[in-house]
Amino acid sequence: MRNFLRKTAAFFCLMCLVSILPLSVRSADFKRETIYQIITDRFYNGNTANDNPSQSSGLFDATQSNWRLYWGGDLQGIQAKMTYLKNMGITAIWISPPIDNLNLSVPFAGQPTAPYHGYQGRDFKRIEEHSGDSTNAWTDFDNMVNSAHANGIKVIVDFAPNHTNQDDAGEFGAFYNNGVYVGNYPSDTTGLFHHNGNIANFDDRYQVQYYSLFNLADLNQENATVDQYLKDSAILLQAHGVDGFRFDAVKHATWGWQYSLANTISTNKDSFMFGEWYQGNTSDPLYRDSYKFANKSGISLLDFPLNQAIRNVFAGSGNFSEIDNVLNTENANFTWKEDLITFIDNHDMKRFLSVNNNNNRLHQAIAFVQTVRGIPCIYYGTEQYLHNDTNGGDDPYNRPAMPGFSTTTTAYGLIKKLSDLRKSNVALAYGTSQQRWMNNDVYIYERKFFNNVVLVAINKSASSTYNISGLNTSLPAGTYSDYLTGTLGGGGLTVNTGTGGNNPAVSFNLNPNTVAVWQYTAPAVTTPQIGSLGPTSAQAGVKVTIGGKNFGTTTGTVKFGTTVATVNSWTNDSIVATVPAITNGNYNVTVTRGTSVSNGINFTALGAKLIPITFTVNNATPTSPGDYIFLTGNTVELSNWNTTWDGAVGPMLTPNYPNWFLNVSVPAGQTIQFKFIKIAANGTVTWENGANHSYTVPTSGVGFVNVNWQY
Ligand code: NOJ
Ligand code: NOJ
Repeated sequence: MRNFLRKTAAFFCLMCLVSILPLSVRSADFKRETIYQIITDRFYNGNTANDNPSQSSGLFDATQSNWRLYWGGDLQGIQAKMTYLKNMGITAIWISPPIDNLNLSVPFAGQPTAPYHGYQGRDFKRIEEHSGDSTNAWTDFDNMVNSAHANGIKVIVDFAPNHTNQDDAGEFGAFYNNGVYVGNYPSDTTGLFHHNGNIANFDDRYQVQYYSLFNLADLNQENATVDQYLKDSAILLQAHGVDGFRFDAVKHATWGWQYSLANTISTNKDSFMFGEWYQGNTSDPLYRDSYKFANKSGISLLDFPLNQAIRNVFAGSGNFSEIDNVLNTENANFTWKEDLITFIDNHDMKRFLSVNNNNNRLHQAIAFVQTVRGIPCIYYGTEQYLHNDTNGGDDPYNRPAMPGFSTTTTAYGLIKKLSDLRKSNVALAYGTSQQRWMNNDVYIYERKFFNNVVLVAINKSASSTYNISGLNTSLPAGTYSDYLTGTLGGGGLTVNTGTGGNNPAVSFNLNPNTVAVWQYTAPAVTTPQIGSLGPTSAQAGVKVTIGGKNFGTTTGTVKFGTTVATVNSWTNDSIVATVPAITNGNYNVTVTRGTSVSNGINFTALGAKLIPITFTVNNATPTSPGDYIFLTGNTVELSNWNTTWDGAVGPMLTPNYPNWFLNVSVPAGQTIQFKFIKIAANGTVTWENGANHSYTVPTSGVGFVNVNWQY
């Protein structure tokens, strides 16, 4: 009994902590986090009772030799390793989809495969029995989330709204709503799925969104039942404490619909969202669509172009100009570049060490992703130098079991050290980035947020020492020791006084296989400094998180343009405020402390919560290849009559030329005015004639508009 009381008291203390914490642990500002990606089945077996559950028996391989079966890792296993994660500096975990998956193994790439990875959903409202318990209950999930939060770790779930399970085998795409059968692919009479066959051309906007990905039953999110089901499922995950979402295959689920998904989620509860938009580089034919999506949807992206450059440069023999070029291009295109997720490898590609079994290079790549602009994500096992090179290390050999949980590896300590720096020096979280010195082997770059500076120097050569002269930095004059204390070979730096943020560093030798980190954390000032705002678009009444420094400890004022907002909480580095009733449009948000006003940050005020509407325009003006029809209209959601490629809504899709359609998220209950325009390949804009079209958006559900182009 006494023990019980003690435990209860401890529990209540924990609860009071938890109720105080939300002030400083908002998720909408994720830039100070260090993420760790876990394939739950391959991480740690915390409960052998769920290894071979009856409803899906025979899919477990205790010998861990069949890579296409379950191996025993589960939610209790993640919970058991929370201290290990915390001591590595991990502040957020991204776990594979935890929801109930297909109960059979189905052919994948010609081989029977069990859904140990979680991407073959059958019930988005229950927990997979191999991860939790045989009743598909939430208990283990809740326990894991509570344990994560008690350790200061946020939980991001992988969420795959694009599809259920395979449409041509096993359970034929069947899915359930908390145990109640909804439908399957072959006998779909109500349009729950798209029936267009597999994607053949991954550069075709219509195919990527409306065809199936590898025979995975492709959900039709414009169907009211599917729309509601997916949004309710996401909200249910939030009710179970999740702090964020990694959306699977965002390139393949209807783009416009995902704006309303993100809006539903951020309206319900503070959350951080990022998506998997797979692309090789910034020359990808859909690259432009990817940054438009990231800039407007409220969903950040995994930085695949940078990932490829990182692999070419650190694992391969690419020159640093490759990384520099990607950063320059992306930084010009992505409005919220500090929210992009930077990573070295993941479950869909060879592990870094399978490409190049060189720990020096791995350490350099780790240091790079933790200091370059963006939020770092470390794939599980990287800190243990995990890799299996069978078949070159491709899927599934990139998903081995954790070999152990040593806390003394160099990588483990490095991740911890740089995670700490991200918390203590917000130049890493919020700072601009600038290349300061570069050759084929050397990259020296600076992150800067007001007067906070982090300067990183990398020499990836195994043999060449480079003399670095002519290096300028924003670090104030002085002498700096390596923040990594020589762990990766770095030494000190002396900086002299210069002008205009260009302080000359005394020339020095950068040895082979070196990463040095020099940093300066500015003392407190009285002018507030904003580094982050999230969500970046929302309607009146939604709470937004403003992250930064020097807000002070006394509640001041937050303004959207000139309108004062209600402040919900205020700490020196994080403010929560409520979007006031303001006309839809773009605003500058500022923080006032005493008489000092901060820098401004962009915010888009929506007219109302977003509802996905499918707009069709028939018989649109003749177009030639490269010409597209776009939608534009009188609200910010419809771009306020913008007529540029990056601004107007579109391009629209034309599987039935000359009719065009597009699913677009627009403000609930509002009467909107709109028109269709042609943007020709050469940029010339042609408006349709006549009066504006007008439509009153429903207050819930989905909607359809069908009009003719006005000649
Ligand atoms: C991308 C995921 O990362 C991959 O592992 C999965 O197979 C596909 N999407 C389909 O869900
Ligand atoms: C923008 C206007 O505001 C809209 O009403 C009009 O239809 C188009 N331009 C075309 O002139």
